[in-house]
Amino acid sequence: MIVEPLIQGAAGMRIYPVERLKRFRELCAANDVLFIVDEVFTGFGRTGRMFACDHAAIVPDLICLSKGLTGGFLPLAATVCRDEIYQAFYNPDRMRAFFHGHSYSGNPLGCAAAVANLKIFETEPVFERIAGIERIHRERLPEFRNHAAVSDVRMLGTIAAIELHAQDPGYLSCVRSRLYPYFLNRGILLRPLGNVIYTVPPYVISADDLHYVYDTIGTALL
Ligand SMILES: Cc1ncc(COP(=O)(O)O)c(C=O)c1O
Repeated sequence: MIVEPLIQGAAGMRIYPVERLKRFRELCAANDVLFIVDEVFTGFGRTGRMFACDHAAIVPDLICLSKGLTGGFLPLAATVCRDEIYQAFYNPDRMRAFFHGHSYSGNPLGCAAAVANLKIFETEPVFERIAGIERIHRERLPEFRNHAAVSDVRMLGTIAAIELHAQDPGYLSCVRSRLYPYFLNRGILLRPLGNVIYTVPPYVISADDLHYVYDTIGTALL
């Protein structure tokens, strides 16, 4: 079973309860099914905890990591698994080992960026910054809740989403093509998912910049 834990990103920032994630884990364990979580989007603090799985206090069998591993700066991904899974692929006898590599496996620059990024987590108040972003989301999102153009607002950690009414809701909604240039012309790179505007700011964003993003969303919806 493969899931995006707690939030389906590209599907429109669709959030589901922690209890459901726990239940997925239980069902997989009970039925001897591998439980794979894709934390490519959610990993490294994005949801307010280091990993989305931490909200549910669960440990998957395999976890997919990328984006936040290098702070989003260089392309690097890692697939991490429980030891018994690793052992099934490992064999000192080269005839029995599972050889699998990628063109850019262990890319030194990517790995250096990841190490530098993980050091920042250890030495800087990253989770305070994350909490600061959450505070601003919590303060500003309610402004949009009762807006005539808005059907829903939701957030999880540093992720905030504003879903707009649309005649063609979904990923291919034409709302995106109207809004994208509006934000870009005002110095903001926001990429609405169809009719869902969302922000996932870099953790170093200043409060002023994030307020500017919200102010600009406000004028876009006038
Ligand atoms: C949850 C999730 N998984 C996977 C990917 C894609 O990962 P990759 O670029 O490593 O194929 C994305 C990219 O947006 C994502 O959000």
